[in-house]
Amino acid sequence: MNTVAVIGTQWGDEGKGKIVDLLARHADVVVRFQGGNNAAHTLVVDGAKFILRLVPAGALYPGKVCVIGAGMAVDPIALLEELAELKRAANFAPDGRLKLSYDAHMVMPYHRAIDRAREARLGKDAIGTTGFGIGPAYEDKAARCGLRFSELADFPSFERKLRRNLAEKNRYLTAVLKAKPVPVAGLVERMRDVRRKLLPHLCDTAAYLAEALERGQRILFEGAHGTMLDIDYGTYPFVTSSSCVASAVFAGGGLPGGRLDAVMGIAKAYTTRVGAGPFPTEIKTRLGDHLREKGAEYGSATQRPRRVGWFDAVLTRRAMRVNGAAILAVTKLDVLTGIDPVRICVAYEYRGARSAEIPASPARLERVKPVYEEMAGWHERLSEKRELGELPPNARRYLERISELCSARLAMVGVGASREEIIVLEDPFLNRR
Ligand code: IMP
Ligand code: MG
Repeated sequence: MNTVAVIGTQWGDEGKGKIVDLLARHADVVVRFQGGNNAAHTLVVDGAKFILRLVPAGALYPGKVCVIGAGMAVDPIALLEELAELKRAANFAPDGRLKLSYDAHMVMPYHRAIDRAREARLGKDAIGTTGFGIGPAYEDKAARCGLRFSELADFPSFERKLRRNLAEKNRYLTAVLKAKPVPVAGLVERMRDVRRKLLPHLCDTAAYLAEALERGQRILFEGAHGTMLDIDYGTYPFVTSSSCVASAVFAGGGLPGGRLDAVMGIAKAYTTRVGAGPFPTEIKTRLGDHLREKGAEYGSATQRPRRVGWFDAVLTRRAMRVNGAAILAVTKLDVLTGIDPVRICVAYEYRGARSAEIPASPARLERVKPVYEEMAGWHERLSEKRELGELPPNARRYLERISELCSARLAMVGVGASREEIIVLEDPFLNRR
């Protein structure tokens, strides 16, 4: 198989970074196709921790090409910071290896200001965004006033549009949101620096990928966020503003239609979410605090504590279907060690009626009662296990039940934070083991 997509099936933070890192080993090109630096992948390589926000995980292997696709909203200043950090920590030289779509949209300081001012005004009704300006940047894209990287080529024209946008956004910020305006001073100069540093990386990434396919190269598509944060299929309005599902690989990644060979869904062995919105299996007792600490469940992008809950098979089954994902990687199984019994949500109850599907409205999802199956837990340490057969029988039963409920083939199981702490049953680039 030459083209593989890795997609989160929950609310993000499923541990995609680790899986993408593993698959990137066999890929020639790694592509991000949606979202921006609201995403963050934490990777542990040789004991050192790396946080990737915009640059695809291929950056940590020599020679891999990293593509930032047209569907992304990229804060160019954050990108420059990330590149500098990658150079320092991993000796990553972007020359020839970083391909930035000239169709990708730029996230500007006024987008961040609007994002934050709106959230502040919403108070208890806030979405709990990362505050990185992602939503307002995608709004401008849809409103056809966004700034794309291609505009940088003609800087006078770019500057004119930037000043026009800034004037308009500042009126909105001050008059409607009662917030401070974003100063123009310095912004134009910073964008000149962005132009100088990023122009060499701009290209038609869709054409690049079509050629890579022709050359028989392997391409990995790295999803960010998760299906439940998808603008269409997620728990709207408590979602992000991009399309996070596998089909976005075509529009946002520039893969020619129909050329995706495999989709791997990723699910954590339990569930987490950051920000507001319905979360039927949330654990609000001390067990939740225990899982948060043990699993280090704090947002990589924002450091916020994540809400923690039981595995929700209703959500993950739906996500697998939406994504057309046949194979599943379950991460962080080790975090559940010592929890006995463990629970899996198999259906929801609403006003006495049972259903294995998600209700249409978020208000209902807020009120459903999860129906749990209880299973005996396990107490052994898992981090040295490399074969499914080495796992305690109860851990195996738990994984089997999850796979069965999600109609999926189990492909990988994460048993610890570092690169090698994983059981691989199937690597889609290498076909079945
Ligand atoms: P935004 O993407 O910053 O607009 O935030 C919208 C919602 O998506 C909020 O609930 C965020 O916490 C959530 N979100 C965005 N990116 C991620 C992510 O990478 N992991 C987890 N949650 C995310
Ligand atoms: Mg993350």
